[in-house]
Amino acid sequence: PKIYAITPTYSRPSQKAELTRLSHIFMLMPNLHWILIEDSNTTTKVVRNLLTRAGLTERSTQLNIKTPLNYKLKNKDPNWLKPRGVEQRNLALSWIRTNVDPAEHSVIFFMDDDNSYSVELFVEMTKIEPGRVGIWPVGLVGGLMVEKPILNAENTQVIGFNAAWRPERPFPIDMAAFAISTDLLFKYPQAQFAYEVERGYQESEILRHITTREQLQPLANNCRDVLVWHTRTEKTNLVSEIKLNKDGKHSDVGMEV
Ligand code: UGA
Ligand code: MN
Repeated sequence: PKIYAITPTYSRPSQKAELTRLSHIFMLMPNLHWILIEDSNTTTKVVRNLLTRAGLTERSTQLNIKTPLNYKLKNKDPNWLKPRGVEQRNLALSWIRTNVDPAEHSVIFFMDDDNSYSVELFVEMTKIEPGRVGIWPVGLVGGLMVEKPILNAENTQVIGFNAAWRPERPFPIDMAAFAISTDLLFKYPQAQFAYEVERGYQESEILRHITTREQLQPLANNCRDVLVWHTRTEKTNLVSEIKLNKDGKHSDVGMEV
């Protein structure tokens, strides 16, 4: 099956580095289609150039939609204060519901721009059966080395999760822990993300419409392999650049960084 990877992204100093890292997965995996949704009023040249240089123009879709101001994180806000990527992921869901053939078996995956992904994860996703949601462990998240589903003795069903942070959530997992057979999006047209949910409940918000714990399909060597890590990039230090800028100078004149 084709895999549609949905990546919300926003302009900041490290954006091109993050997206370059992800683009190499697409260059290695021909069955992937990248839906990039920029959190801005227009699509940008940085993203367009990157897709062109990676040879991905045919296998990507560049969209844009700005997060409403009242929901946008301010520079000094702690990153968990507001949900991120809601607007952008919902736009991608509606793009998929409009542009993907409901009869064709495909899979959708929410791929943050700053996580670290193994190509092996995308091989696992191709095993997702029609009508099911695949699930696997995620490293370095939720205050643990790894958050993972607990399986029954036969390794066929998820019977719980090891989450330490808000374990009472219906699906106490990260966005990177699952991918969805696209037929479920057509079967449950109301399934999407929402601002009006508590911190950490975005994953449960979409999954509650389309699956139950019992229906989840365990992947990645019966959930024993870690193939994705919830890494986060530190904020770029630009103290000297800002000093230069005050003198009307820039270190990156004529360059795209
Ligand atoms: C965690 C999860 O990994 C996210 O999938 C989830 O959206 C988020 O929590 C949440 O609860 O809202 P975290 O690392 O804290 O992620 O979030 P970010 O990586 O900062 O943002 C998630 C995605 O949204 C990224 O692809 C990022 O580029 C994008 N984003 C972030 C925007 O499009 N606009 C923003 O203003 C901020
Ligand atoms: Mn992140």
